[in-house]
Amino acid sequence: MSGNPFLKTAVLIFSLLLLPFIAYGQDNTLNILYTGAVRGELEPCGCSPKTESGGVARLSGYIARNREGLRPYVLIDAGNSTAEDTPQGRLKTEALLNSFGIMGYDAAAFLEPASPRGVHDALTGGDLSPLIEKYGVPAISDYARDRSSVSVLRGPLRINISADPKGYKKGMFNILLTGKPVSEVRTIEGWDVIAASSGEILEQPVTAGKTVIVSGYPKGEKLGILTIHTDVFGVVSGFVHRWQPLGKDIEEDSNVRDVLNEYDRKVASLVDEEEKGISSNGPYLGGLICAVCHQPFMDGWKNTGHAGAFAALEKAGKSRDPECVKCHTVGYGEEGGFSSGATTPGLANVQCEACHGPGKGHVSDFTMPMRPVGEEVCLRCHTRENSPDFDFKTYFEKIRHK
Ligand code: HEC
Ligand code: HEC
Ligand code: HEC
Ligand code: HEC
Repeated sequence: MSGNPFLKTAVLIFSLLLLPFIAYGQDNTLNILYTGAVRGELEPCGCSPKTESGGVARLSGYIARNREGLRPYVLIDAGNSTAEDTPQGRLKTEALLNSFGIMGYDAAAFLEPASPRGVHDALTGGDLSPLIEKYGVPAISDYARDRSSVSVLRGPLRINISADPKGYKKGMFNILLTGKPVSEVRTIEGWDVIAASSGEILEQPVTAGKTVIVSGYPKGEKLGILTIHTDVFGVVSGFVHRWQPLGKDIEEDSNVRDVLNEYDRKVASLVDEEEKGISSNGPYLGGLICAVCHQPFMDGWKNTGHAGAFAALEKAGKSRDPECVKCHTVGYGEEGGFSSGATTPGLANVQCEACHGPGKGHVSDFTMPMRPVGEEVCLRCHTRENSPDFDFKTYFEKIRHK
């Protein structure tokens, strides 16, 4: 029988047919937890119920509390997650990297156009490099001089995570982190999973050949969870995807919260520096002065949400953050406008002059008209991002002040 070539072939074919079933029996699972395009958004502003989702403290809290159920997993950031290159932006980026370190990211990509100075600067001796080391973030980059990949082991799976589109490795499970738009990455071959950080929202992953493509939810509003099933050879046999919302109900990680509080304090002292040299002799007077002649309007205004706008920031611990203060006070950043609750308390909240314009001229001569207030004035603060439900007619009715 051993000499019968016919039988040999039959046995071989039979075994080959059986293989997928054997493989199926040894199915492996890997959860790929991914972020990308966070753009320095450490936490949501909470301006509207539609903008209360996300934030690194909740992300960390979610992962910490569900770690066992998520295992085996890799936690990756697909890039474009640092903030802009400004003094406050750099503080944000530092807080973000610190948080990534606490969460134990397996890899984070720092891609070519992400930092205005170029990522080569960032990873090899620039601003980011010492921070990345300080917080222990496994950084990879698509710039030639930098480290482009990391390898991790999860159960039987050897995983190669790379930022170099040509850097896939035979015999490993390959994940590419990229900033390119999804339409462009479709043609890149050799990868099991591609995680993009172009800021595109893909409700479900896109497949191209045998590659599964996902894209980090903008501003870190949700955590992407791609569950991959592989056969004994590490070949993808199926996947499931879901977006984990990060709403108010998710308990924050207190360690990351500490990092965010520290960030708020640093931003406040940054502002302290800038405050020196601000003159108080500007064109804004504050609502108390207006009330001398327009008391009924003052009474009406006090019943609107605008009168509580600064308290809302204090409650959120953000009353010293320029990025919040600018819409919750009068004339922030302008000559003689609000600078801080301590130095210019009379200009806190969305007062009269936030809409009607500075009143100095008008008070010395009533015939000098105040600025007409139309919808465009509201839209300076009621942006689509911060006030997605804004509608001039219905909103105006709510703030009528006489
Ligand atoms: C571009 C202007 C703008 C910026 C910047 C901004 N806000 Fe707001 N905020 C608004 C507007 C407008 C509303 C009211 C939205 C609505 O009701 O439609 C609001 C509402 C809020 C509320 C809800 C108030 C309440 O009493 O319910 C909170 C809290 C808040 N903002 C916090 C923040 C924080 C924290 C930041 C900074 C991270 C921030 N805002 C930045 C414009 C802004
Ligand atoms: C959120 C923006 C906003 C704020 C804040 C605001 N107003 Fe007004 N105010 C308006 C709008 C809009 C109108 C009606 C349109 C107009 O006449 O310009 C108006 C109308 C008025 C008028 C009547 C104008 C007229 O021609 O009849 C007076 C007076 C006035 N406001 C005074 C005040 C005073 C005083 C305060 C502060 C206590 C204040 N407003 C706060 C937006 C605002
Ligand atoms: C000393 C009294 C006085 C003070 C203070 C004063 N106003 Fe007036 N305001 C007037 C008078 C009087 C008129 C009516 C002028 C007219 O009809 O020509 C007027 C008109 C207005 C109008 C409607 C007509 C226009 O010119 O646009 C607005 C809006 C207004 N004031 C807002 C303010 C605001 C905001 C402040 C605070 C920054 C303020 N006023 C402070 C006396 C005052
Ligand atoms: C300088 C920034 C700014 C401008 C200008 C502004 N708003 Fe607001 N508005 C806010 C902020 C901040 C809040 C949230 C305040 C809070 O509830 O704590 C808010 C809240 C509101 C609310 C919800 C609170 C309530 O009283 O029901 C309405 C309605 C509203 N604004 C209408 C308007 C309209 C209409 C205009 C233009 C005439 C306008 N706003 C101009 C910043 C602004």
